[in-house]
Amino acid sequence: MRRLKGSLALVLLGACACAAHAAGAAGRPWLDRQLSPDVRARLAVRAMSQREKLRLVFGYFGSVTPGSPYRPPRQARMGSAGYVPGIARLGIAPQWISDAGLGVATQRASTDVYRERTALPSGLATAASWNPSLAERGGAMIGAEARASGFNVLLGPGADLVREVRGGRDFEYASEDPLLTGVMAGAEIRGIQSQHVIAVLKHFAFNDQETGRTVYDARIAHAAGRESDLLGFELAIEQGHPGALMCAYNRTDGHYNCQNRWLLHHVLDGDWGYRGYVMSDWGATHSTVRSALAGLDQDSASSVFDQRPYYGAALARAVADGRVSEATLDEMDERILRSMFAVGVVDHPIDPEAHIDFTADQAVAEADEQQGIVLLKNAAGILPLARTVRRVAVIGGHADRGVLSGGGSSTVFPVGGNAVPGLGPQGWPGPRVYLPNAPLGAMMGQAPQARFRYASGRNIAHAQQLAKWADRVVVFAMQWAAESQDVSLRLRGQQNQLIAAVAAVNPHTVVVLETGGPVLMPWLARVAGVLEAWFPGSGGGTAIARVLFGAADPSGHLPVSFPASSRELAFPQLPGAALRGNQPFSIDYGRQGAAVGYKWYQSKGLKPLYPFGYGLSYTRFAYSGLSAALEHGRLVVRFTVRNVGRRAGAAVPQVYVGPLAGGWEAPRRLAGWHKVELAPGAARTVSVTVDPRLLAVFDGAKHRWVRAAGRYVLWLGDSSAHFVRSVRITLPAWQHPARWPVHYGHGAHGARSAG
Ligand code: BGC
Repeated sequence: MRRLKGSLALVLLGACACAAHAAGAAGRPWLDRQLSPDVRARLAVRAMSQREKLRLVFGYFGSVTPGSPYRPPRQARMGSAGYVPGIARLGIAPQWISDAGLGVATQRASTDVYRERTALPSGLATAASWNPSLAERGGAMIGAEARASGFNVLLGPGADLVREVRGGRDFEYASEDPLLTGVMAGAEIRGIQSQHVIAVLKHFAFNDQETGRTVYDARIAHAAGRESDLLGFELAIEQGHPGALMCAYNRTDGHYNCQNRWLLHHVLDGDWGYRGYVMSDWGATHSTVRSALAGLDQDSASSVFDQRPYYGAALARAVADGRVSEATLDEMDERILRSMFAVGVVDHPIDPEAHIDFTADQAVAEADEQQGIVLLKNAAGILPLARTVRRVAVIGGHADRGVLSGGGSSTVFPVGGNAVPGLGPQGWPGPRVYLPNAPLGAMMGQAPQARFRYASGRNIAHAQQLAKWADRVVVFAMQWAAESQDVSLRLRGQQNQLIAAVAAVNPHTVVVLETGGPVLMPWLARVAGVLEAWFPGSGGGTAIARVLFGAADPSGHLPVSFPASSRELAFPQLPGAALRGNQPFSIDYGRQGAAVGYKWYQSKGLKPLYPFGYGLSYTRFAYSGLSAALEHGRLVVRFTVRNVGRRAGAAVPQVYVGPLAGGWEAPRRLAGWHKVELAPGAARTVSVTVDPRLLAVFDGAKHRWVRAAGRYVLWLGDSSAHFVRSVRITLPAWQHPARWPVHYGHGAHGARSAG
């Protein structure tokens, strides 16, 4: 539980003090790497003065905001999200904090400082690869760039479910499914922390839309929350062991998340046994005592973003008059220090002078995007574009200059600068940044024999002329999305008209979408091909060109359902959109419960435009030999995948599960998957082990995961709506306490006690 039992602490301290001396860390035993992070943290806190304890829980903004008298401490990295001073006399490093989950970002507030760094494709793109090893490599890449930029805390990844497909930050998240989200976010965390940089999992929790993000109150039955949004966080924490977690702006159940005892105390600490620290989002703290007692360990950038600084002097007063106990303050510090030791922040000082190999890093981003691109439509095999094609018209989307990225705190300023400066809002959450890896140039490299012509698409008649000239037309359509504002499903401006007009004069038209999330496609029947490239990251142009021309097989599958219209969404109108100012409102997630995304469509018998899990390939796969068995209490599913086409490619076979008798939030849930790369004719037998929680419901009254005895169906398919095989299995009743047994190691990812 949150407040450690004193006796346990003393036993551990006693045992480890000897070890420390044995290792010769004389005078500063907490610097002894032989000791566990828990013990090191406790020893360090014992040596700290109260001023020092108060210092570690108080974060500064790292940037100068135009017009504000605030100046960050001199030691802060200018243009950064945050800074927490260290304690030099104890050998405790400062925390230099940078956004975010897609790369090292620079705060727009500091217009004089830009760090040019490598951007990963959006979170949805990485999740669309269904390849956790890519997410881990990407995490390691941005973690290494963070270190080399002088940062040891990275504010990402995000693991909110895509409950709201118009959410302005969906591009930072992974998916609409808790398993896919937990696995991909967990992998990214492992990657970031492999570089001794603390990953901050955010935004906890139900921070599912930008409209009214600082005021809305998410209402959901606890059990449904545990089976959906919270399960995504739970799995990400288990798989990644993030050093820190960021509580979000919104309220849940009537209470602000950063002072929400249910979220922070009962679920995070109690049930999940989380032992990292909790930091607030920038401006998400609303109290001193309530927050400290609920479990907020560090107040971020409070003197700039909070109504007033709630920690610092205010917390000192609360400790002095006993409203917050010394023991509570100690534990807040212990949690911060514990993660600093566990991840290696103290033992492996950052090196801001380290060399960054931008070419190698761009290759990581490119590989990620290449597997994240989803082929949605391929009529009459228009793709891959034949290398014998002679005339190619490329239209729109600044495809001659670069690829789009999302806006807000996660925006990475690219190496080489913004390829299309001057677009979009100059202030927050702009500017609109294009990464200078242009698809047009990369396409020319793929087909040296062909002639390419480019039109911006602003003049539709001119674009049509070009389309008539060409054998093949590739239209790029963009939908910028950004933090703090939600987005429409309709492509902006005249892009829909442009696509329809071009396709009307040349049926060999392919559309490449660079969007934050799903968009409507009124022209779909008229075009021959559609690729969803998301926000493609620093290697995006090359990845798109390679997939278009078949140098790479498209193997991405949708991590979100694409709706046919907003009418079929759980909330046809965006909640709160009609309200003026910053009026508080509630969002009744009870309407949907745990039936998020494909589960919503299937429980309501609705058909989306493209279902979750969907994605085409240039080759074909066949599946056989589906079997399911309980092995050591775990459900294991096996099957064989064969590449029956003529090209190499990667399949993403997905296993879904549901009780024959029904009774869940939806007929079926994603139970697992296995991405398999296969040469033509090759086959592989793979297995998927199903997490028992995915076969159970959360019983709020019993506070347990409960599986009913009975028959369950397992479906094997290549999307949530297309199955090639199914098998039934009878399972006995099973239950398990809400607290899941997590086995924490002692390595960089943490060493948590279950006690
Ligand atoms: C965002 C966070 C971000 C923080 C620091 C907030 O506005 O919600 O995701 O990490 O700012 O820039």
